[in-house]
Amino acid sequence: MATKLSPADFPKRKAEKSVISMVTCYDYTMACLVNESNVDCVLVGDSLANVMHGEETTIPATVDLMALHTRAVHRGLPNKFLVSDMPFLSTRLGLERGTEAAGKLIAAGADSVKIEGADGNLELISHLVESGIPVMGHLGLTPQFYHAMGGYKVQGRTEEAKAKLIKDAIALEKAGCFAIVAECIPSEVATAMSKAVSVPIIGIGGGAEVDGQVLVLHDMLGFSKFKPKFVRHFIEGAELVKKALNEYDEGCKNRTFPNAEEQFVK
Ligand code: KIV
Repeated sequence: MATKLSPADFPKRKAEKSVISMVTCYDYTMACLVNESNVDCVLVGDSLANVMHGEETTIPATVDLMALHTRAVHRGLPNKFLVSDMPFLSTRLGLERGTEAAGKLIAAGADSVKIEGADGNLELISHLVESGIPVMGHLGLTPQFYHAMGGYKVQGRTEEAKAKLIKDAIALEKAGCFAIVAECIPSEVATAMSKAVSVPIIGIGGGAEVDGQVLVLHDMLGFSKFKPKFVRHFIEGAELVKKALNEYDEGCKNRTFPNAEEQFVK
């Protein structure tokens, strides 16, 4: 297994043209599996509000909820670089409260935090980086801006929006981000962002030419019904689980489960 990445390894990997793989993870059991895989790094995304708690948006995620899941993932994931999402509004309540929130996630076991958007966050990002908390940026479709965006929509389709994304990527790099997630952006725009900075652009719906890819674990394992254009099911997890449940049910009902070896004897 490769050694755990550090923030400084991210731009190095970009310079070496070595593509970075990242998945989300929210619980201990899955973390143990991801830990044994070749995936490079892991995000406790605030998408846990959707995936683990059935919420419609990521907005209900709180710092305490993020810290709880971060702790569980951290316990199962000693060998991977772990990023944890700063949830809705946690970066917008002043430097002190933002730093306190990031500190909680680091204390829970994260190696770094991720912050959505550039505008209004640059001072906090620089402050966290100077305080020893590495920061990953996130541009494009930033789900915490669900209401402002009027729903989940592909971003950066106009020349003006493309120029703003490139400007924001440069500003995030300058503020000290070691990598930037670019979500739901036309491939050509995400590639232009990558060319503008020396830190990796990690795409989710950002095409094949960027410096890394990230997917929500439950999407790529085929557990969720949600399948946007950029998701590939690497297994059909939902079908496998339902098949196993039905085989168990059948085994219970026709008394083939438990068999002789699955019972205690005196
Ligand atoms: O919360 C999340 O899962 C994310 C990824 C989509 C990058 O931010």
